[in-house]
Parts: sequence; C-alpha cells; structure tokens
Amino acid sequence: MSAPVPAIMRACVITAPGGPEVLALRDVPRPRLGPDGVVVRVRASALNRADLLQRMGRYPAPPGAPTDIPGLEFAGEIAEVGAHVVGWEPGDRVFGIVGGGAHADYVAVHAGSLAPVPDGMPWPIAGATPEAFITAHDALVTQGGLARGERVLIHAIGSGVGLAATQLARMLGAEVFGTARSAAKLDAARAHGMHEGVVPMDGARGIAEAVLAWSNEHGVDVVLDLVGGAYVAESLRCVAARGRYLLVGLVAGTSTTIDLSRLLRHRIHLMGTVLRARSSEEKAEATAAFVRDVLPGLATGALSPVLVAVVPLERIAEGHARLEENATIGKIAVTMD
Ligand SMILES: NC(=O)c1ccc[n+]([C@@H]2O[C@H](COP(=O)([O-])OP(=O)(O)OC[C@H]3O[C@@H](n4cnc5c(N)ncnc54)[C@H](OP(=O)(O)O)[C@@H]3O)[C@@H](O)[C@H]2O)c1
Repeated sequence: MSAPVPAIMRACVITAPGGPEVLALRDVPRPRLGPDGVVVRVRASALNRADLLQRMGRYPAPPGAPTDIPGLEFAGEIAEVGAHVVGWEPGDRVFGIVGGGAHADYVAVHAGSLAPVPDGMPWPIAGATPEAFITAHDALVTQGGLARGERVLIHAIGSGVGLAATQLARMLGAEVFGTARSAAKLDAARAHGMHEGVVPMDGARGIAEAVLAWSNEHGVDVVLDLVGGAYVAESLRCVAARGRYLLVGLVAGTSTTIDLSRLLRHRIHLMGTVLRARSSEEKAEATAAFVRDVLPGLATGALSPVLVAVVPLERIAEGHARLEENATIGKIAVTMD
C-alpha cells in the first residue's frame, strides 16, 4: 500500500525572472489528479536548457504546465491513479516527460507519457533519461529516419542530448561525427561511441571541411543540430543528397543566412522540432516509440545517460549556474529525497 499523498509539497519556484538566485524552495499545493492522468511522487529529475530560459522569463510554460515550477522530466513512483487510467497502479516505478512542474515532490502526468523504469536503474539515472533520449530518438529515428550504415553529424556532442544521440546512433549502426568547443568534450564523446570530431574555429568555421574529409567527400545523411545559428549555414555545406537536417536547439543563435540552392539541388529536408510544447497525444506517441526502441537498451545498460553531477532539490540553483557555464559533459540530475 502506498503512503497517503500530502496536500502540500516542496517545489522549486521561479519567484521572478532572473539568475539562479530567483529560484526558491517553497511549500505549494500539490498538483491535482485528472481522470486521464496520474500523480507521481518524484524521486529524481534533471536540468534542461529550457529550465534556464524559463527562469530568465524567456520561455513561458506551455498550456497546462505550472507557470512557475520548471522541470521537464521525472522519475518516481505513481502515488495516485485517475479514474480513466488503465494499466498503471500506485507504486509503479515510472519515468517520462512533461511540459513543466517536475522540479517538485509531486508532478501530474498524462498517463500516455508514462514509461516503466527498468529494474535496478537508480533514481538519478532514471530522472536524467527521458528528455535526452526521447529528444534524440524522436529526432534521429522518428523524424530523421537514420539507418544502419548512414553518417550522422551531431553538434554540441558533449551535451546531455548529444551523448544520448551518440549512443543511439551507434546502436543503430550509424557512423558518428561530432562537434564541441573543447577537445575534452570530444574525448568524452569518443568514449561513448563518437568516431570522429572537430572543434570549430571562431563561430562554426571548419566543420564542413572536416566532415567532408572524414566521409570521403560523401557528407552526412543526418544532422542533429543542437546549436543553431551559424552552425546551420556551415553544416548544410556537408549534407549528402537526400539528407535530413534536424534543428533541435538554438544556443548559438536564432538566425543565419543559408544557401537555399543547396537545399534544392541536394533535396535536403530541413526540419525544426520541439518536444516541450507538444500535445499530450504527441508526447504519448514519442513516449511509445521510446518504449519500443530505447527502453530495451536502457534495461541492458547498453544505453545510459551520462551524469556529470547530482544535486538535491534544495540546491538546484547551483545546478542552474553550472549548466549555464557550458562546461558540463552530460546531464545534471536533481534528487528529491
Ligand atoms: N527541441 C527540443 O525539444 C529540445 C529538447 C531538449 C534539448 N533541446 C536543445 O538541445 C540542446 C542540447 O540540450 P542539452 O540539455 O543536452 O544541453 P546541455 O547539456 O546544457 O549542453 C548544451 C551545450 O551547447 C553548447 N553550446 C552552448 N552555447 C553554444 C554556442 N554559443 N555555440 C556552440 N555551442 C554552444 C555547449 O557545449 P560546447 O562547449 O561543446 O559547445 C553546451 O554544453 C540545447 O540547445 C537544448 O535547448 C531541445
């Protein structure tokens, strides 16, 4: 039998737009149970760039998510089950993605966004898994159609999503080229399966030449661009015919000038994608694909998020500051106990 769910819980609250100092641990009403959802007792979560932007007041929460409690991924035990939900019981160990609210002791989740945590997986690892692996799988496989023997270029390869994507691409039998702004991040990515990489020169210069030399002038079939800005124009120069370009992040900027003729001549598909704003139904589809293709690898340990740090909820501001420095390799997990 699971413990009664308290009316009040601890949450990381954004008290005003600003730096990490605006985050405060507050007692707030716990989220209410809906008929199609569950309430999860969160044991662990992790930090994402979107949390930083939301804290700065530059990325408002999507409809249905708490406006002032960040947190896009959770791992924990089901505490309450909605009247229409079948297949899940209180006490089940689950993880998944939400539009926000996971940096708290309890989070309300649509039942379609639940996946079972593999036996024996520690909470911090489970909490740092869903966002990186669902983002990487949805972009590389569902939208990018990455196939065995193809070549993929991954920007910011030492990031949480980048290292998850590297492992997935290798599991699929693809060849991986990565970029990062330090040799140490490239070394870390090599240890997780990257074949070759380059540190771009000022801005994004040098990427296309390095990729073309590595691929015997073929270019890459898929680009997982977690950076945006000038990286887009530079990378399009080394995309092979019928290549797929997935624009997933914009840390290097929201604008650039690209050669449109290259898109036409090489029949390149340029796609932008985001998870956070998707409807419950779309998140459920991405979760089902994750359960089908990624969960088995997580269960055997062949796939695993790379953790650079674990911070307790009461010290989450330290995690925000650290992520902002761009020096992390992999994920920062947040624990609730
Ligand atoms: N669309 C979606 O649904 C979705 C979901 C999750 C994440 N994302 C995006 O995916 C990206 C990776 O996320 P994450 O959580 O894995 O990030 P992360 O671990 O925080 O890593 C981001 C990395 O981006 C690189 N970077 C930062 N500013 C840069 C700049 N100006 N130029 C080039 N590189 C820069 C840094 O690595 P280097 O020092 O190696 O350059 C940094 O460590 C972020 O852009 C995030 O917003 C999108």
